[in-house]
Amino acid sequence: MSIERTFAIIKPDAVAAGQQGEILARIHKHGFKIVAIKTMSLTKEEAGGFYAVHKARPFFGELTDFMSSGKIIALVLEAEGAIAKWRDAMGATDPKKAAPGTIRCDLGTSIGNNCTHGSDAAETAAFEISYFFAGLDLI
Ligand code: RTP
Ligand code: MG
Repeated sequence: MSIERTFAIIKPDAVAAGQQGEILARIHKHGFKIVAIKTMSLTKEEAGGFYAVHKARPFFGELTDFMSSGKIIALVLEAEGAIAKWRDAMGATDPKKAAPGTIRCDLGTSIGNNCTHGSDAAETAAFEISYFFAGLDLI
């Protein structure tokens, strides 16, 4: 396996609940290097651009309302096999189906309010990193 970068978000539910520290501690414990990090807010349109792949899905409106409902923390994480490693650390999309000890199982409250995002493939990681960060942020 090679060193990869993935894109992660601490979603508005987790920031509103003050869980940033807990999630950053888990990122550290799993051995990721934080390459870039910023706190910000998204408009509904910006959230829609990020989740454009889900545009036709019935939950798109709910998803973009949620992602623009409060501050998020955007992160670029680096590790060996970072993309799969971060998906494993988060657990399944629905916190009720996520394995015990995963971030979504422990901190998520519903399939919509599932506290974190992670890229699902190399191509999506590249798009998502460039959607949020400039080249100079990533040196
Ligand atoms: P994410 O992109 O946020 O890391 O989540 P994921 O890959 O595990 O799941 P994905 O299928 O990409 O869905 C994106 C986000 O949409 C919300 N969702 N709601 N109500 C629903 O049935 C439903 N399904 C998905 C979730 O917040 C999910 O994280
Ligand atoms: Mg996804």
